[in-house]
Amino acid sequence: MAKPKITIAFYSTYGTNHGIAAAAAKAAEEAGAEVRLRRIPETAPKEVVEGQDAWKAQAERASDIEVISPDDLKWADGLFISSPTRYGGMASQTRAWLDTLGGLWMEGALVNKTVTVTASAQNKNGGTEGAIQQTYVSAMHFGMIPVVPGYADGVKFEDGGNPYGFSTQPGELSDVGAKSVAYQAKRLVEVTAKLIA
Ligand SMILES: Cc1cc2nc3c(=O)[nH]c(=O)nc-3n(C[C@H](O)[C@H](O)[C@H](O)COP(=O)(O)O)c2cc1C
Repeated sequence: MAKPKITIAFYSTYGTNHGIAAAAAKAAEEAGAEVRLRRIPETAPKEVVEGQDAWKAQAERASDIEVISPDDLKWADGLFISSPTRYGGMASQTRAWLDTLGGLWMEGALVNKTVTVTASAQNKNGGTEGAIQQTYVSAMHFGMIPVVPGYADGVKFEDGGNPYGFSTQPGELSDVGAKSVAYQAKRLVEVTAKLIA
């Protein structure tokens, strides 16, 4: 199998999507990929972040992870994105990051790279499907190729069954959650390996 290069990009206010991204990075490496784990930059003012203990603690936990750069996207054959839901869509930090990629879009630098998306929300039906779909829509503008889990593996009948991408409520990943994220990451690696072969 060709060794795909996978960039894992996450934004996380309280840690959930950081946990998903870390699990995806481990699984993608185990599936044979070369992996870069990167964080999407914070856009909220420092005083707002520092005004909430849980937000400040997550910012500290993620501080040694490199902020994603355009090179991390050019380098990659495939992209794994994880982001919280905000009012039924993706977090504004994720949106703002996507909005900085116009240069790469103009160059066609992301064309034919694969992409898969995961999300979290406070409520079971709080809008993760919308958040994930919006992210794929932007990726489609870049000419990227969505690699979705669908129901292609039995874990999708255990994990809540979001066919667009794993989604969860906040907190640490459950065993089933970890299994589902690993499945989605492995599928991304395997499909990407076929495309670059
Ligand atoms: C401004 C704001 C809007 C939110 N909107 C939603 C929402 O529409 N539906 C929902 O279930 N949860 C919503 N949440 C909860 C977040 O989705 C939740 O905190 C997040 O998924 C946790 O991920 P994290 O730990 O990676 O930050 C919202 C939170 C904030 C701060």
